[in-house]
Amino acid sequence: MTKKYTLTILPGDGIGPEAMAEVRKVIDWLKNNKALSFTLHEDDIGGAAYDRYGVPLADETLEKCHASDAVIMGSVGGPKWDNVDYDKRPEAGLLRLRKEMGLFANLRPALVFDALIDASTLKPEIVKGLDILIVRELTGGVYFGEPRGIEDLGNGQRRGINTQVYETYEIERVGRVAFDLARKRGNKVHSCEKANVMESGKLWREDITALHQAEFNDVTLEHMYADNCAMQLLRNPSQFDVIVTDNLFGDILSDAAAMLTGSLGMLPSASLGEADKAGLYEPVHGSAPDIAGQGKANPLATILSFAMALRYSLDLSNEADAIESAVQDVLNNGQRTPDIMADGCTEVSTAQMGDALIKALEQ
Ligand code: IPM
Ligand code: MG
Repeated sequence: MTKKYTLTILPGDGIGPEAMAEVRKVIDWLKNNKALSFTLHEDDIGGAAYDRYGVPLADETLEKCHASDAVIMGSVGGPKWDNVDYDKRPEAGLLRLRKEMGLFANLRPALVFDALIDASTLKPEIVKGLDILIVRELTGGVYFGEPRGIEDLGNGQRRGINTQVYETYEIERVGRVAFDLARKRGNKVHSCEKANVMESGKLWREDITALHQAEFNDVTLEHMYADNCAMQLLRNPSQFDVIVTDNLFGDILSDAAAMLTGSLGMLPSASLGEADKAGLYEPVHGSAPDIAGQGKANPLATILSFAMALRYSLDLSNEADAIESAVQDVLNNGQRTPDIMADGCTEVSTAQMGDALIKALEQ
């Protein structure tokens, strides 16, 4: 029996489309070699959607996403849309997609591949074997809090306002995801906030503590101020297993954790909501407009995001494993896009990297 899945593919802006072209090769390979059938809906998001629909995420696109088992996204944004109004900027399309799909838990693994250990700017002994999972709250906090805006104070001054706000249910549900995942990994959670200066951080700490006591006291929990966490990530990253944190701190800490691994070009992410809903899968890196269209982009983060979709939304963990080990093989064979290029390796283009991956899958 052929299993059937519906995917929405949103290539987006910058290097998004060229990375997504390599994901399509993997999808085609799965179609041809496994008893799997994929119906693909392709649409625009971000600047590409703004150019086509006048908004960075059209209602009809959102409907397709809701009707899919998973959404695979490239990246959004670029200087072309710098002067577009805030609510129509490419990033606003992504934020709306996360919010409307209810994707409150963003999983950002930072994994150091042995073959890439020299790509890290940190000493190899600090990052070897690193395997951190950041669980970032994704639909609340200062990204969405009201009031927000820029006010004219009438005296030649203006005031910019954003609101950091969390309610208990938002903290508990993302906390639950983090503790659950920790049980399947190193059984340790660091919860990060700024309880020393922010009431929302104090509430975060209290609610995580209560949740831990009530449901997860077999998991080791440590609280850490977010600024200290940034420092500890560089000082001694292997102390971390799962880090759970709010939307803004998660945005920042996940970039820091990502760079421990040497290249943003390697890191996937999954955004999940309530168990039965479709997830959104996207690379951690941005749209890199400076290298777009030149065949220099590393497609592996987007391909690994697709692997996460197979694992978390389609329940195809064997296929996810196969893709992940094919990525290891390609790296071990020394094929490298410019972002991860090293002495003695062969530099390959975006498309050549995709082809190499298919070859590794075939073996
Ligand atoms: C990310 C990005 C986004 C964010 C932008 C593109 C809106 O930086 O996914 O980390 O800030 O969440
Ligand atoms: Mg970010």
